[in-house]
Amino acid sequence: MESAAGRTQRALAVWLVIAQLLQIVAAQDLQVDFYGGTCPSAEKIVRDAVEAAVAKDHGNAPGLIRLHFHDCFVRGCDASVLLDGPKSEKVASPNFSLRGFEVVDAAKAELEKQCPGIVSCADILAFAARDSIELTGGKRWEVPAGRRDGNVSINAEAEAMLPSPQLNVQQLTDSFTRKGLSQSDMITLSGAHTIGRIHCSTVVARLYPETDPSLDEDLAVQLKTLCPQVGGSSSSTFNLDPTTPELFDNMYYSNLFSGKGVLQSDQILFESWSTKLPTMFNVLSTTSFTSSFADSMLTMSQIEVKTGSEGEIRRNCRAVNPVVEAPSPL
Ligand code: HEM
Repeated sequence: MESAAGRTQRALAVWLVIAQLLQIVAAQDLQVDFYGGTCPSAEKIVRDAVEAAVAKDHGNAPGLIRLHFHDCFVRGCDASVLLDGPKSEKVASPNFSLRGFEVVDAAKAELEKQCPGIVSCADILAFAARDSIELTGGKRWEVPAGRRDGNVSINAEAEAMLPSPQLNVQQLTDSFTRKGLSQSDMITLSGAHTIGRIHCSTVVARLYPETDPSLDEDLAVQLKTLCPQVGGSSSSTFNLDPTTPELFDNMYYSNLFSGKGVLQSDQILFESWSTKLPTMFNVLSTTSFTSSFADSMLTMSQIEVKTGSEGEIRRNCRAVNPVVEAPSPL
């Protein structure tokens, strides 16, 4: 007869094997053309939605790129940033100006019509970021897919994980290292600030009470006109790249050389990398910048992904799937 202790040990061993098997299933790698067999038009549907949205409002391109970044840095690339809720990531202060949610909704609605329950919201974000970069002049890359959607979204986690523009170089580097990204990835990915906008509420700390001396004088005057210390609107916006604001090129870096980087963290990074990281000068050639950018995006888009049997495929990107009650036995 097996003792109670023996039975417990055996049950534990069986459970460990099951847990390991589950882990193996969950750790399946992402794959290029993941939806080839189940929803062959998935990437085209997303692309069409992004193209239509960017044609209507160019700001959707930077919006979608940033959405993917803010998603991946909190609980991995699992679309947690898309979940609605009074305490979800969306309401965290670094997310106050996120945009592009409606574009994801439009893509998802079409995907649910053509291939219900197949394509994750997390993959839509990864495809849409890639398409936005290509549509604005950057380099295209193949996006490995198979991410599953998470069902937790907590504003405090977004506050803790997303880098603030007021951090110093070490803190900025730490926030990327925590996510498995190198300093070189950080500097390259910050090149995304070659398109998009910044709000007065973000920039005023560089203007008042003292003007940040590293700001170009003419740019400081323009910023002060748009964002006066008293009576201005915190919702007014300014182009992050005042030179070629709608083009995904490497002007962001050239701007920094002439004090025309609007974001404080970019200026801080520049002061460090331009002297201490000579290898980063490769970003000063457009071709090598766009290639390095694609490589670093590929790394970022695989942060802590859920695969296999983890998470779920949300039917609506803004809400977790309703729990389906099992039919009660007769
Ligand atoms: C290095 C750390 C980073 C910091 C501190 C930072 C911070 C910011 C801030 C404060 C804004 C402007 C928000 C506003 O006033 O509305 C912004 C905009 C933006 N960021 Fe970053 N960012 C960082 C890295 C990144 C990365 C890695 C990406 C993408 C790969 C990215 C993509 C963007 C884009 C595209 C915009 C413009 C968004 C729009 O026009 O809607 N940023 N960022």
